[in-house]
Amino acid sequence: MGVEALPGDSSAEGPIIELSKDLKLSVSERLIKRGLAVLGMRGSGKSYTCGVIAEELARVGQPFVVIDLMGEYYTLRERFPVLIVGLESTGYTDLSGLKPEHAEPLIRFVVENGVSLVLDLSQGTMAERVEFLADFLEAFYKVEEELRRPYVLIVDEAHRIAPEKGLPRLERISKSLKRAYYWLYEIAATGRHIGMGLVIAVRRPAEISKSILAQAEVKIVHKLVDPTDLKKLHEEGLPSELDDEVRSLEPGEAVVLGLGEPFITKVKERSCTHGGEAPLIKPVASPDLEKTIRALAKILGLKSEEERLPVPSPKAEGPRAPEEQPRPARELVLPEFDVQSFDYPPDVVANYLVRMMVYGHLGLFVPRSDQQLAFETCLVPDAPSALKALARRLSEEGWSIRGIGEEGERILLASLKEVVVGMAVAEAEGQGVLALVLSSPLPTSLDKALSRLRILMADTCPSTGKAQR
Ligand SMILES: Nc1ncnc2c1ncn2[C@@H]1O[C@H](COP(=O)(O)OP(=O)(O)OP(=O)(O)O)[C@@H](O)[C@H]1O
Ligand SMILES: [Mg+2]
Repeated sequence: MGVEALPGDSSAEGPIIELSKDLKLSVSERLIKRGLAVLGMRGSGKSYTCGVIAEELARVGQPFVVIDLMGEYYTLRERFPVLIVGLESTGYTDLSGLKPEHAEPLIRFVVENGVSLVLDLSQGTMAERVEFLADFLEAFYKVEEELRRPYVLIVDEAHRIAPEKGLPRLERISKSLKRAYYWLYEIAATGRHIGMGLVIAVRRPAEISKSILAQAEVKIVHKLVDPTDLKKLHEEGLPSELDDEVRSLEPGEAVVLGLGEPFITKVKERSCTHGGEAPLIKPVASPDLEKTIRALAKILGLKSEEERLPVPSPKAEGPRAPEEQPRPARELVLPEFDVQSFDYPPDVVANYLVRMMVYGHLGLFVPRSDQQLAFETCLVPDAPSALKALARRLSEEGWSIRGIGEEGERILLASLKEVVVGMAVAEAEGQGVLALVLSSPLPTSLDKALSRLRILMADTCPSTGKAQR
C-alpha cells in the first residue's frame, strides 16, 4: 500500500520535508496552508514524529515554534541552533523566568529574527504555564498578522490545551485555558492566511476539540486501540478495514490520512536523541545564537543562564563532536508541591499514590510497554521536605530531576540512564506519605536502583516507617 511521490507535493514550490521514504510534505502546502495532526496512544511515537518534523524544518530552513509541555525537545540543540526558553530554569534553557508580560516581546523578537524556538513549559505551576501559553499564542497570532512571516507552530500534547470535553479545572486555570484554546483554534482555522502553519500531536482523537482536529487535513495516525477513537477516525477518512492495522502498529509506524489513498509508513529515525530523559550528547548551535540570546535577554530584561547549553564558537559549522567536559552540577530547582491531605489511613494513601502514578501518569515517564516496575512507600514526618531531601541526594548522585503532572498531583521524576523513578507525596491522617515507582527495561538495574533508593530514603528521612500495604 505504498504511495508514489505525492502529486501535490513533488511539484509544490518551496521546501519539502521528508518524514519517511514515502511521506514527503511540502511545507507551504501541507503545513502552512493546511495543517497536520499526529495521533496515537501513549508511546506510539507522536513526540518522536514531531521531533522528526522539527528536525526536517530546521534542515530546510523553515523557522518553527514548539510548545513543549513535557520538556522533551531541547535535544534538538544537538544539531540545530534553536532557542530554548522556559518559565523556570531546567538546566538546558537559554533564558528562563518568563512571565506573561514577556510573551509578546519574545515572539516578536523570534519572528522578526526568523529564529526557531522551543517554548519549554515543563516547569511552573499549571496555572502559570497555561497563563503564559494563552498570552503567547495570542501574541504569536497578532505578530504574524502584522509581519506575515511563514512559521510552523508545533503543539505537542495539544489535547491538554484544547480538550474536547471540559475537564474539571481550577477556576484560575480554566480561564486561561479557554483563552489558550481560543487562540489555538484561531491559528488552526485562520492562521494559514497570515503564514502560520500548525502541527498538533494528540493522544486520542476523541479527546481533542473536534473543531481543531477538523482543520488538520493530513493525519499521521500511530497506534490506537480504543474503539471510540477508531470510530472518530472513520469520520476522518480511515477505512474500517484498516482498524486492525492501526491497532497493531509498532512505535513510529503510522497510517497516513489525507493524502489520497490511506497508506502505512514508518517515520524515519531522528537525527537528535529523542526524549526528555536523554542526555544532550552533541550540543551545537549557530555562531549567531550567542548574540541572539544576549539580545533577547536584554529585550526581556532577563539574565541569560550562566550554565546553559554550550553555544559553539564562531568557527563551528553544523554538527560537531561533543566536547569532553562534564557538565557542572547545577543547583537543583524543585517545583512547589501542593500536598494533598487525605482522611484515610497512610497505607491506603500510599497505595493510592502508587496507583495514581502507575495508572494515571505512568505513560508520562514510561512510554514503553517492556518496562519492569517496582515500588516503595514510606511514612515520613514531613512529606515535601523528605521528597526534596531525597531529590537533592539523587541529583548529587547524577540523577536528573524534573517535575511532571498537573497542579495538585505533581510527580517528581528522577532518571539515570534507563531507570526512571516517579516520586509523589501526600498527607494521611497527619502523617507524611512518600511513594516511589521505579521503572526500567532491565531487571538488574531496577534492583540496583531500588536498593540504592532504600538506602537514601533511610538516610534522608531517618524517622521513616514503612507504609504497609
Ligand atoms: N519513528 C520511530 N523510530 C524509532 N523509534 C520510535 C519511533 N517513534 C517512536 N519510537 C520509540 O517509541 C518511544 C515512544 O515514542 P514517543 O515518545 O514519541 O511517544 P508518544 O506517542 O509521544 O507518547 P506520549 O503520549 O506518552 O507522549 C520512543 O522513545 C522511541 O523509542
Ligand atoms: Mg509524547
